[in-house]
Amino acid sequence: MNNIVVVGLGAVGLPLALCYALKDCLVYGVDSNQEHLKKIKTCTIDFQEDDNGKKINEIIREATEKGNLVLSTDIPEITQPGTVIMVVVPINVENGSLNINTVSQALKDVGKKLKQGDLVIIRSTVFPGFSEEVALPILERESGMQGGQDFYLAYSPERMSEGKAFEELRNIDLIVGGINQESVNQAIATLRIISPALVHVGKIKEVETSKIIENLQRDVNIALANEISYFLASKGISGKNCIRLANTHKRVNMLLPGPGVGGHCLPWAYYYLGHITRSPEELPLSRLSRQINDLTPQVIVNLIQNYITESSYDQDKIAILGQAWKDYSSNCRHSPAVRAKEILIEKGFQVVSYDPMAKSGLGVEVVNLEDCLENASVVIIPVIQKEFLSLDVAKIQRLIKPEALIIDLKELLNKEELVSAGYKVFSL
Ligand SMILES: NC(=O)c1ccc[n+]([C@@H]2O[C@H](COP(=O)([O-])OP(=O)(O)OC[C@H]3O[C@@H](n4cnc5c(N)ncnc54)[C@H](O)[C@@H]3O)[C@@H](O)[C@H]2O)c1
Repeated sequence: MNNIVVVGLGAVGLPLALCYALKDCLVYGVDSNQEHLKKIKTCTIDFQEDDNGKKINEIIREATEKGNLVLSTDIPEITQPGTVIMVVVPINVENGSLNINTVSQALKDVGKKLKQGDLVIIRSTVFPGFSEEVALPILERESGMQGGQDFYLAYSPERMSEGKAFEELRNIDLIVGGINQESVNQAIATLRIISPALVHVGKIKEVETSKIIENLQRDVNIALANEISYFLASKGISGKNCIRLANTHKRVNMLLPGPGVGGHCLPWAYYYLGHITRSPEELPLSRLSRQINDLTPQVIVNLIQNYITESSYDQDKIAILGQAWKDYSSNCRHSPAVRAKEILIEKGFQVVSYDPMAKSGLGVEVVNLEDCLENASVVIIPVIQKEFLSLDVAKIQRLIKPEALIIDLKELLNKEELVSAGYKVFSL
């Protein structure tokens, strides 16, 4: 039985740990956040993940009962040689600057427990040079051993998307780099336990950078989609339809526009790459794309302000359906929908929101769809949740004010029907 330690049981680390537990490895899942760990232990975690229909909490229950998953706040002392330790703790971005304290602490903890012959695989998204220039010195200092000789160190970023973790942890191609060939070989053998996917090997710094580029490419792509689509909307042309048509060309692959970009992968890519710039003039396209995506919630608020100035209502109630950072998610991290709500509250508007999956903890959140929509003169639909799919124009008509503004960024409702029912509709 392989011994695997997974440090950081978040959106990535927890399903990753479970994938190994499902392969009969003995997995030690470590998370320093006691409250979070308690939710995992009590199988009450709200991650929207399932493995072929089996919910994540059920998988946790079975793995712990079987003895394949052992949970704790500290890295255990393992006597068996050749332990694999995977680090899945993020580098945070605060006001545009990187904060490596959290991941450095995790690496210090790992270094203290390292033994001869162990393998450390960093799975987090990091800036170019992190593994060799930050992680390796910490591990060597704390363990008193030499990397590449006494222990092994590899980097293989996680490429999964929340909501599809189990499927993508197993099936997306893997990219791997290591401080020496033996580190790469051992890392591939470990990754192979759960994944039959292709493995591509590169220099460690190139692998680190390629992960950032994956995210940055989408951030820039969405900025272009948003720039085009918000511009075209003012001309009465659907940017989404245009992009769909353009994508029929085999060399065009644009993403669709929306309320902005959330989560902590895409919005942080520019800052990870920017960490190694020498001058603020470098990476202008990436920086501008980030600004465009950051400003999108403000663009939505501007639309509302213009509408309200012209509307005849004394009291404008703004209803936001969906607070998560992406469709069908329970996560509000850096959510553009939450940012739009925040700006509206700052401007003194009466705002309520409803999301059956994700609570933002900001302002008035109601517990059902009807309370959210009732008497609203503006409705924003930034993201979709399953429950919203049953919403139709007839139901809308029973609840919201006549001639209300509906900002439907997800094509949830039939635009023609809404317009003929007398609503003002903004869509992309
Ligand atoms: N979320 C995604 O969809 C996704 C996809 C691909 C890659 N990634 C990358 O994977 C990494 C992890 O992302 P995430 O979304 O799982 O993060 P997360 O914030 O959901 O989870 C990180 C976990 O690490 C724990 N932690 C922090 N310090 C610790 C320590 N010293 N010891 C033990 N646990 C500690 C936290 O309590 C938290 O539960 C990031 O680098 C991220 O960029 C994320």
